[in-house]
Amino acid sequence: MSNIIVSPSILSADFAYLQRDIERVEKAGANWLHIDVMDGHFVPNISIGIPVVKSVKRVTKIPLDVHLMIENPMDYIPKFIDAGADIVTVHQEACSDMLEVVLEYIKARGVKSGVAIKPNTPANVLNDYLDKMDMALVMTVEPGFSGQKFIEEAAYKVEYIKNRVSDEFIIQVDGGINDKTANVCKYLGANSLVAGDYIYKSVDIQAAIDSLR
Ligand code: DX5
Ligand code: ZN
Repeated sequence: MSNIIVSPSILSADFAYLQRDIERVEKAGANWLHIDVMDGHFVPNISIGIPVVKSVKRVTKIPLDVHLMIENPMDYIPKFIDAGADIVTVHQEACSDMLEVVLEYIKARGVKSGVAIKPNTPANVLNDYLDKMDMALVMTVEPGFSGQKFIEEAAYKVEYIKNRVSDEFIIQVDGGINDKTANVCKYLGANSLVAGDYIYKSVDIQAAIDSLR
């Protein structure tokens, strides 16, 4: 067993049975719960928002890892934190020159901050911010949907980031993670893995989570 933070994505859960599906991964030892928020603008899909985060907070004790795939994130971050987000991840592409202000706000609210980059965004856009954030999220699929194929070239950015941060820094990989692609990510230096379909579509959720560690 290693110290990998496993964060199952509820995007692959059955929303009609969300509490049941959260309890399943919690019981199987999930460290965080990954909540994918999509606005239909930053990504071509719409998922869930602030009221769902608020309700989920009531039924689980594990930290809520909120991945914001939205434009103008600063307009909504205060509300997501009020609703119970423990880790707030914004996309670099959605913030550009606002990123420092956004990270300062998240830190001031006492929650962890993350910055995500899409597969075609170079890792060096994070260089000036690494000391101002708790986590980098390397996307290994184009954000918007679960169940897509892992883009290995995008994962190589993990190594670039790893060489510039301390051991406590969290490097999370999201998109197309399974037992095999998890090995690539861990080898490159990732210490947190998000998985949607691999966990929720498996017959043995416990075995699936264990196999990622
Ligand atoms: C994609 C989301 C991911 C996705 C992961 O936009 O950010 O978190 O739900 O799903 P899988 O693991 O099935 O690729
Ligand atoms: Zn995600």
